[in-house]
Amino acid sequence: MRLKDKVALITGGASGMGASTAQIFAREGARVVVADVADADGAKVAADIRAGGGGARFVRLDVTDEAAWMAAVAATMAEWGRIDILVNNAGISGSYPDPFDTGLWDRLMDINAKGVFLGMKAAIPEMVKRGAGSVVNISSISGFVGQKVVHMGYNASKAAVRVMTKSAAVQFAKDGVRVNSVHPGVMPPMRTSKLTADPAVRERLVRAIPMGRAGRIEEVANATLFLASDEASYVTGTELVVDGGFLAM
Ligand SMILES: NC(=O)c1ccc[n+]([C@@H]2O[C@H](COP(=O)([O-])OP(=O)(O)OC[C@H]3O[C@@H](n4cnc5c(N)ncnc54)[C@H](O)[C@@H]3O)[C@@H](O)[C@H]2O)c1
Repeated sequence: MRLKDKVALITGGASGMGASTAQIFAREGARVVVADVADADGAKVAADIRAGGGGARFVRLDVTDEAAWMAAVAATMAEWGRIDILVNNAGISGSYPDPFDTGLWDRLMDINAKGVFLGMKAAIPEMVKRGAGSVVNISSISGFVGQKVVHMGYNASKAAVRVMTKSAAVQFAKDGVRVNSVHPGVMPPMRTSKLTADPAVRERLVRAIPMGRAGRIEEVANATLFLASDEASYVTGTELVVDGGFLAM
């Protein structure tokens, strides 16, 4: 098992790629904290893992709430005594019709960018104490390029994740903490997707992908698994793009 005896906290673990990551990590031997604002779905992901013989608990966490972050990490330490892996995956979509919605800019930066900063603020000190840890921040191809149907705040938030990952990688390498980013391409729509959930828009997006199809959630979760595991022991500050070749065009 690739994560035997490790403890992982995964934000946005109630849905999509976060839920898949929680399931795959548990299968690989990790005890998993599923952290989300979606209580019922998050509790179900944790219950399903336990029913399959794995270790999991649900913690309600709004990633924009610093106090809630401190409580989530404290709860993890109280239950399992360590935190080896943090996956900052929670996020909201920027595929909204109004390109100049200021309120959306604020929400995107709060959840997608500040939420990642707060997660690192809460978890990295515990990793530093043990001299080991792996943080995987979920960015996007939107952290590299602009897109027609995506609010610029989404691109800005994901670019912030991409570069703050490198800051943290450089600053905490001496402490044994690795920090990397994963950049999914076109995936199943997010819960909050609007334009990119439209079948006509999706068809156009998929046509631009060299592999000719959207990604599957477990294809991103498996990339995250590699970076989270000790197999990536010399990998820090890198960007792992999982996009069927989209950015290579
Ligand atoms: N779906 C895509 O096409 C795609 C592509 C590239 C990157 N991403 C990124 O991947 C990550 C996961 O996306 P997904 O497709 O699984 O989306 P999803 O909508 O299925 O899941 C996102 C989860 O984040 C949670 N969440 C939202 N706001 C939160 C908050 N303030 N605090 C805690 N949890 C919160 C939601 O409740 C949900 O469970 C996101 O960061 C997203 O930006 C998605």
